[in-house]
Amino acid sequence: MRQKPPEPLGSEITSESLYLRRREFIKSAAFFTGTAAAVGAGLQLLSNRPTGGDGPSLLATPGEAPKVVRPRGPYDTDERATSYEDATTYNNFYEFGLDKGEPAENAHTLKPRPWTVVIDGEVNKPQRVDMDTLQSWFPLEERVYRMRCVEAWSMVIPWLGFPLAGLLRRVEPTSKAKYVAFTTLKDPEQMPGQKYPVLDWPYVEGLRLDEALHPLTLMAVGMYGRVLPNQNGAPLRLVVPWKYGFKGIKSIVRISLTEKQPPTTWNRSNPREYGFFANVNPEVAHPRWSQASERRIGELRRRPTLPFNGYAEQVADLYKGMDLRGNF
Ligand code: MTE
Repeated sequence: MRQKPPEPLGSEITSESLYLRRREFIKSAAFFTGTAAAVGAGLQLLSNRPTGGDGPSLLATPGEAPKVVRPRGPYDTDERATSYEDATTYNNFYEFGLDKGEPAENAHTLKPRPWTVVIDGEVNKPQRVDMDTLQSWFPLEERVYRMRCVEAWSMVIPWLGFPLAGLLRRVEPTSKAKYVAFTTLKDPEQMPGQKYPVLDWPYVEGLRLDEALHPLTLMAVGMYGRVLPNQNGAPLRLVVPWKYGFKGIKSIVRISLTEKQPPTTWNRSNPREYGFFANVNPEVAHPRWSQASERRIGELRRRPTLPFNGYAEQVADLYKGMDLRGNF
């Protein structure tokens, strides 16, 4: 694996070969055209849906009960999904290298099973739970979300997962809980990039409790109808679609409820450039580039960036009265 001197986000250069690989434009609606068995009140089986890519099917995972997804929800976008190939070969996962193509090449060393997740801190019912057990607690939903990276590129991804709110309610936050802190696995054998001091390992992230409880906030275990590929954060990854992509911490081993605002990796690494909130905001430029527009992977022309990444109607109230420049 190549290692370069530490470089903050935003170092990517658009390569022509990437454009040449942009094919397979899959309409998000197409994910629902496969054989859908009605289960209970309009639930769909995940089987037989055209998905693209050749990762294992969720249903093919040994020992797993059939998983169901709800029909499309109120938050789904109709925008065309990014191709599976692009979403799984153009990644940020510094534990496996700094170039966009390196996680796909290197993340085979990560072993997403068996996997234990600890949920602790300010909760009445702390848990140390096997990933398969955790996943069995919730029906899986498909959510088609926009993802806007702070580097000014974006994708549309059909995630499979469950709302974080359900998990948090299950462990019963105490009255002291105000924030949720997330931690990625720290194991330099599985994550060779951690042998280099590129970031302060393990990668950590955090949300305010009301953000974590918002119905848009998802814990993803899959994408495109498949198990989450290692390079996308297997086996468990956070998705907060109105925030910059770096909030979407991958390969989570610990979720802790806290009284105080937890540290976050990019804020710690460069507080002038990366804030705790990291809400997508076209009006607040990154110190080194504008955030007013973005390059949607698979498209040639830039498009305007929307406040809260187009989810303002759902989430703007969370920040009423807050100075969004100061709290960037
Ligand atoms: N999580 C960990 N543990 N390590 C990382 O380097 N990169 C973040 C985020 N989660 C990162 C991480 C960044 S900067 C982005 S934009 C998204 O993951 C990228 O997700 P993707 O590769 O699935 O598109």
